[in-house]
Formats: sequence, C-alpha cells, structure tokens
Amino acid sequence: MTFTETILDWYTVKGRDLPWRHTRDPYLIWLSEIILQQTRVGQGMDYWLRFVQRWPRVEDLAAATEDEVLRMWQGLGYYSRARNLHQAAQQIVARGSFPDTLQGIKSLKGVGDYTAAAIASFAFGLPSAVVDGNVYRVLARHYGIDVPIHSAQGKKVFTQLAQSLLPPRQAAAFNQGMMDFGATQCTPASPRCELCPLQESCLAFRTGRINQLPVKEKKLNVVTRHLTYLYIRCGDTTAIRRRGAGDIWQGLWEPLLFEESAADARHQPETDHLKEALLPGATLLRQHVKHVLTHRILVADFYFLQTDTPPPLPKDFRWVKETELDSYAFPRLLENLFASLPQPQGEVTSKP
Ligand code: ADE
Ligand code: SF4
Repeated sequence: MTFTETILDWYTVKGRDLPWRHTRDPYLIWLSEIILQQTRVGQGMDYWLRFVQRWPRVEDLAAATEDEVLRMWQGLGYYSRARNLHQAAQQIVARGSFPDTLQGIKSLKGVGDYTAAAIASFAFGLPSAVVDGNVYRVLARHYGIDVPIHSAQGKKVFTQLAQSLLPPRQAAAFNQGMMDFGATQCTPASPRCELCPLQESCLAFRTGRINQLPVKEKKLNVVTRHLTYLYIRCGDTTAIRRRGAGDIWQGLWEPLLFEESAADARHQPETDHLKEALLPGATLLRQHVKHVLTHRILVADFYFLQTDTPPPLPKDFRWVKETELDSYAFPRLLENLFASLPQPQGEVTSKP
C-alpha cells in the first residue's frame, strides 16, 4: 500500500468525527478553519456551534456589528481573526457568493495558504494539499526529511511533497486524514509507532530518528545565560584564562567568570568561593549587558576590582600586562565591556 492509500484507509477508520466535516457549505467550513487557526479542536467546537447557531449564513454574519462578533469571539484570543472574519463576511456578500477557486479563497481577509487549501478541498473538492505543522511532522518523519521545516526551502519541499501525494479525487479525505494522523497518531512528543500503519515504510522509525524529526531550525531553544565577569587589576596586570572546549567561545580568553548554570560546570566549584570573597569589594561597571548569539542570549554583569595583592586564582589563570591584552583574543562581548574600564592610575595617557 502506498503512503496515500494508508492515510485514506486510516482516516476512514480513525478519523475524527467533527461537525464541520458534515457540510460542504464553504461558509461553515471557512468559519471552522478561521476558528481552528490558533485554537484546539476541543475548544473551537463550542465556538463554531455558537457562531453557526447565531449566524447560520454568511449574510447574517456580515450584517452583525463588529462588536457582536468580537463578543462572540471572547475567550478565543488573537482578536484580529474575529475582525478579519467579519470583514471577509462582508467581502463575500459584496461579491455575491463564496469564491470557489484557490486564488479567490486566498483573497479573503485572514485566509492564508493553509486555510485556503483546506477550504478549497473540503468545500469544493479542489486538489490543493494543506501543509501545517501536522503535515510537516508526518512527512518529515515518514520520508526522513531533515530540511528545516520553517526555512524557505523546507516550505517548498514539504508543500511539493504533500501536493504530489494528494489524490486529486479525494483531496478532502486526504487532507483531513493528514491533519488527524498528525494530531492523534504521529504526535509531536510521543507518536504511537507501535500501532502505526506506516511503521514499515517510516524512515524515522527505521533509523531511530523520531525525536530528531522534524527539524525546526528557527525554533531552536534560545537559552539565556547570565555571566558575571570580574576584571581584577593588580598593579599593571590583570588575570585572564583561556576557555576550554565544549562550550561557546572555545579558545578565547576571559577574566574571572561566574555563571549561575554554567554549561562549563567543571570550572564552577573552584571559582564559587572567589565570588563571595571578591565581588563585594568590586565595582559594578556595567549591568545586564545583552549579547545575542545564534542560539543564546547572554546577559552580562561586569565588575572591576583594584587590588594590591593578587588573589589566589585557579592554576589556569595567568597575570598579563594590561597593555598586552591586545595580543589575546576575547569575545566581542568582553571587548565591549573592557571599554568601560577606568584608566590605570598613574598612567601617562598623553605626553606633552
Ligand atoms: N485544524 C485546522 N483545520 C482543521 C480541521 N478541519 N479539522 C481538524 N482540525 C483542524
Ligand atoms: Fe509517525 Fe511513528 Fe508512524 Fe513513523 S511510525 S509515521 S514516526 S507514528
């Protein structure tokens, strides 16, 4: 059996029985799709039933006031959806009928590619594949595609694949099947692979990559790290050390660093006591300086301590002349922070 046949068969048996699937009325289907754009099926159902009861035809909705629509929408969030809904209803009434082409449907306010494809296939049987998070996930896993789903290329690849799998005469059933399969079978966190009809042909299952697919490039978790630097000046020297492997800024140099939850936790115990001993006597030069890396946001505090006796530091620190700092590579963040250091005392900054 092909992928498409499997989805269609599965949908016949396991598809959800949802009230908007019992109609071909484009108005009622459109209404359901707008409600379901950012709302779960369970919650959306009540709202859909109430809307349909109060405004059974698009002319009724168009004749309502925006306030009435907003009040009915209350609790669903993303209120621009309600305003667009109301305006689109008036658009439809003004043009005389619900548009019955993909382009025409897409021209309605608040209707994007996904919603247009859904309405086109459910109401008019048009062969346009829906591509949403569920579809991305099912296809990425089954076909083992690791193109990031939110990239331009990903959108293209998955849309083309979904379109090529869509059976033109059963577009509605296939699209609904894909939605439901993603929502109840091939779920994000714990897909039910052990009782999945696609198991044999599923590449992610065969190669143990279910948790790695789909790839979400732009949604990689952005971790915020809090860095507290202490720059120690002792005579004309300061203490720095080189960063180790396995973390950001490998091989670059830095002054004493305290970090609450260091990825590089190995260094933490040996500097913890220094924080208590040295920080209270230091001057805070810069606070909460934000620095953004690809997948991290760093928030740095920068302290300065002037002392005559060098505190005992871990062995990998070295005391270097401040005038020679130029010959060490520091992260850009630190270069910026160094600019706030006070001038060394007694230094001749300009000659007469
Ligand atoms: N989510 C978006 N559209 C849907 C639909 N028609 N059925 C179920 N869930 C959906
Ligand atoms: Fe999804 Fe698992 Fe089925 Fe593959 S085998 S399609 S990962 S539920």
